[in-house]
Amino acid sequence: MDSALKRKNVLLGISGSIAAYKAAEIVRLLRKRGAAVYPIMTKAATHFVHPITFQALASQKVTLELFDKNKEMRHLSLPRLADLLLIAPASANVIGKMASGIADEILTTIVLATEAPVVIAPAMDHGMYKSPILQRNISKLKAFGYRFIGPEKGDLASGEVGMGRMTEPSEIVQYLEELIQSRDDFRGKTFLVTAGPTRERLDTVRFFSNYSSGKMGYALAEEGRWRGAKIILVSGPSSLTPPGGVEFYRVESAQEMYDTVMSKFPQVDGVLMAAAVSDYRPARRWQNKIKKESREKLVVELVQNPDILKELGEKKANKILVGFCAETKDLEKEARKKLITKGLDLVVANDVTLEGAGFEVDTNIVTLIDGQGKKEALSRRSKREVAQKVWDKVKQLTEVRKISREMA
Ligand SMILES: Cc1cc2nc3c(=O)[nH]c(=O)nc-3n(C[C@H](O)[C@H](O)[C@H](O)COP(=O)(O)O)c2cc1C
Repeated sequence: MDSALKRKNVLLGISGSIAAYKAAEIVRLLRKRGAAVYPIMTKAATHFVHPITFQALASQKVTLELFDKNKEMRHLSLPRLADLLLIAPASANVIGKMASGIADEILTTIVLATEAPVVIAPAMDHGMYKSPILQRNISKLKAFGYRFIGPEKGDLASGEVGMGRMTEPSEIVQYLEELIQSRDDFRGKTFLVTAGPTRERLDTVRFFSNYSSGKMGYALAEEGRWRGAKIILVSGPSSLTPPGGVEFYRVESAQEMYDTVMSKFPQVDGVLMAAAVSDYRPARRWQNKIKKESREKLVVELVQNPDILKELGEKKANKILVGFCAETKDLEKEARKKLITKGLDLVVANDVTLEGAGFEVDTNIVTLIDGQGKKEALSRRSKREVAQKVWDKVKQLTEVRKISREMA
């Protein structure tokens, strides 16, 4: 079978690390799989390996300068043709510049200009790797959807053993192959994603709501689109910018979210309900601002909102339904209960009392439990990485369903 990399244009950024020599092997392996490779080297990288090595292996001119003598605008032409940008080895310096949006030479300018997936294979001494600044830069890039492979623990150029060794070329190339394949995971499929809180109006200026920021749902929408799905994003109030290329609906109350979700439901293959929908709303809505002078005490009666997830579970037939479960105690018990009572295929459970999990923060600590009761607990990671895991699981569930339908 042909490699998914066949006829793909791969930009290979090489930065100033001792591991630069391993990039030569990456070029060889990529070409073996049929990819066209366009090497781009930082000035520091040329101290480690001569550009002629890459030119010969790639059969392509190596891009070295932003301000090219021939006035070629490679910082624009290369990003446009790219199917993938791999930076291997990625120095701490290049990672730092990318995390800050700096584009002061050819490689980082291309990173900013490209819409292709960017994969980063860091390589450095373990002292540099442990630096909290570098770690923060990596987290920041992950949150933007940049993929990282490695580094690994092993022998370092300093003679010591530690974290920082670049992942082996063969593993990197295999990762790229799988990544390119995953771009087609949901091609032709439509998924609805909900995000953010809902607001339940009390009077003209006040409402009941919760701390949800929308970050988890927006990350799911971005990742789903990245893997080829058509995404309908229904979001409660959030300060986030809707991801490009999604069909976007902004709603306010649980009732509005219910109406929008139900109207779109017939046309989708699945729903990922990441929104934190208010269970209750005030039974009465005051027409004007409630004045405190007029009353000593204010008693507000709350009534239940429609249970969107439960109704979807009853109607879903062959559609995939993913629910989120934010709890403050008995997480697993509550998650399993939700899985059954709402007819879910997958529940993503998180304890919102843990540091680095739940509302407003950029990371999450979740446990995935599927319809068969199979559990996978994930360590703390960016919401975008959690989204990747959730879509991996949705893909598995879709495949299992397809197989059982074919056998029936
Ligand atoms: C012998 C030697 C080896 C180096 N190895 C690495 C490395 O593995 N990783 C890294 O981040 N920096 C390494 N550096 C430092 C970078 O080359 C330096 O930060 C440089 O400015 C990176 O430039 P660039 O990011 O534009 O390629 C090394 C420097 C020297 C002199």
